[in-house]
Amino acid sequence: MHFSKALRNLSNAANANKPIIRKGVHPKFAHLAENAKTIKRLRTEDFTIDCTRYQKTLDQNSELKERVSDVFKRIGLVVLDNTGTRDPKLLKAPFKHILKSRANYEGGSNYRRPIGVEDVYDTGVTNEQTIHYHHEMGYSNRPPLSICFMCLQLTPGVDGFTYFCDNTAFTRDIEASDIGQKLIHKGTVIIRRWADEKYVKKHGVTNYLTTWQLSFMTDDPKVAEERAREQSQQDIEWCEETGTLSGRVYPDIYEYCPHSDRNLFWFSMADHAIWFDTHPQVNTTPDNERPHILKFGDGSDLSNEEVSQILDISANQGFKHSWKPGQSVLSCNYRFMHGRPGMSLNPGEVRQLGVVLGERFERVGPVPGKYF
Ligand SMILES: [Fe+2]
Repeated sequence: MHFSKALRNLSNAANANKPIIRKGVHPKFAHLAENAKTIKRLRTEDFTIDCTRYQKTLDQNSELKERVSDVFKRIGLVVLDNTGTRDPKLLKAPFKHILKSRANYEGGSNYRRPIGVEDVYDTGVTNEQTIHYHHEMGYSNRPPLSICFMCLQLTPGVDGFTYFCDNTAFTRDIEASDIGQKLIHKGTVIIRRWADEKYVKKHGVTNYLTTWQLSFMTDDPKVAEERAREQSQQDIEWCEETGTLSGRVYPDIYEYCPHSDRNLFWFSMADHAIWFDTHPQVNTTPDNERPHILKFGDGSDLSNEEVSQILDISANQGFKHSWKPGQSVLSCNYRFMHGRPGMSLNPGEVRQLGVVLGERFERVGPVPGKYF
């Protein structure tokens, strides 16, 4: 479909204001979290460090630094508990040697707002949205190696949570499934679209994810295109009528993980149109007209049943982390995916997470002989 037509349709559909229901697909997060299999592989105490005795030296304690390194190396997920602070600088300090060089937001996805402290951003999403399990910036050819989340504010009594999915276990489970074999065999293509700010303002379009100006942080189409290509976008097109930018990525379904010396799945439903099912305005539009869509590499669609199977497999290896203010978590972007179901807060209730993206790496895809 021509993009101008798609945008017109988006606008019309938004006016209809009826979210499209995806039959037979229900977002699930860790519905087997109490399952012994999950608990056995990853026990909370194995990746949680009680920081009570490090509270006064969070930013310089060598023992804490070593413990963080050890847990990160073995498991890939580190929770710092009882830090005694909500200062973002101190909460990220024990992870600095793993996060390494600052990885500023470079564009291509939802814009993240800096929260006023160097390197720390907001999550870029609203509470109401369901965020399916994903690798951070999984669509990019230069994603971060690790990501740090910190709980800066949480109203007492509010269950503010983030879910983590064990990607090593997910890889083994999905490889053993029919849908996994189909994904491996056919590969995937991700089609992304970015609206034009001027067109959006002039025509009052509301059901779009983001504009290329905001996403790529420029008003210059050439610079935006260049930045899109740097992120492996192919088949780049501009719609003359609407100014919409679009591109396609054909990602490797696997990525070699140096920590475990294995090829792990690098695939999530975050690139699928399902991402927008709880997104105001955009959830009124058909899949093929959403800001990004994921198909099999041959251009065929994933069925609702296949989408549901993938969500089930990741949910089986997911678990819930309920936040306490002042907790800080470091997650390996290879070995864990993160996400959460949508949540609603009552008036006056607050949940604020800060995010720090670690050093970037160049994707290499799978390495021969390193499969399970
Ligand atoms: Fe994320």
